[in-house]
Amino acid sequence: MKVCRTISELRNELKILREQSKVISFVPTMGYLHEGHLSLVRFAKNNSNICVVSIFVNPTQFGANEDFNRYPRDEQRDLELLKNEKCDFVFIPSSDEMYGKDYQTFVNVKKYSQILEGEFRPGHFEGVTTVVLKLFNIVQPDFAVFGQKDAQQAFIIQKMVDDLNVPVRIEVLPIVREKDGLAMSSRNVYLNAEERKQALALYNSIQLAEKFLKEGERNSDRIIEEIKKLMLQYPLIKIDYVEIVDKNTFTKIKEIEKDKSYYLLLAVRIGATRLIDNTILKV
Ligand code: PAJ
Repeated sequence: MKVCRTISELRNELKILREQSKVISFVPTMGYLHEGHLSLVRFAKNNSNICVVSIFVNPTQFGANEDFNRYPRDEQRDLELLKNEKCDFVFIPSSDEMYGKDYQTFVNVKKYSQILEGEFRPGHFEGVTTVVLKLFNIVQPDFAVFGQKDAQQAFIIQKMVDDLNVPVRIEVLPIVREKDGLAMSSRNVYLNAEERKQALALYNSIQLAEKFLKEGERNSDRIIEEIKKLMLQYPLIKIDYVEIVDKNTFTKIKEIEKDKSYYLLLAVRIGATRLIDNTILKV
């Protein structure tokens, strides 16, 4: 496994491999890796000849009052985990390498960056799409792997790739959860013992929605209301949003219809920590 810290170093390595017609996969991350990340790396490795993982805590996707400075980082541990997965290249650029020299250009997937997560984190998705497009241009992978954990992010990146004709295939893999159902996240380390207990409100909400669906409920507002009621039982939880959207258009819907797919999207704050989760709803 080779660690590259500059764009030119990684480009030179990958150029030779691309000329040998190697299939190159790419998994962008912000590090502090867990089994969710590693599931993406395994898929990438199993479906390509060369697997590239990036670790970059991207400053442009954090708001002024967000957790950029205290975002967890452990490069040595991440490198060990990636070595175990037989990852081929790890790209760890500095902020200067990515945004030095009078940086001016931003990518904005307008409509979809302003709703849901975008409403609560203004500018967040512009930072994500900008860094992901830069990384795609640096790595030029055949395919890139993302997690359903960040469903709106994956949707927006697919939209950017379609709109800008970026020659990369996007793969989206299921959410990896802890044994008790909490979706794995680098941010879970922020939770104290009581917050960690109450974080189960997210998974319990997902199970409640699935129960209502099974019992025949088709009205999305009623499912959302029941989830909000359930969340009231967790005093540390403050809801940012609970929404049901069409999986293919990310627009809110009234009724769940047969043979269509939806996302139930959840975003809450527990103390100083913001957590998101989701599930695919289908009848
Ligand atoms: P990060 O939060 O590190 O996540 C990297 C990738 O891992 C994302 O595609 C995310 O959806 C996926 N992931 C996170 N938790 C997961 C889980 N429990 N199960 C499955 N996949 C999971 O998302 C980012 O970084 C950044 O926004 C990035 C795309 C790297 C751009 O900076």
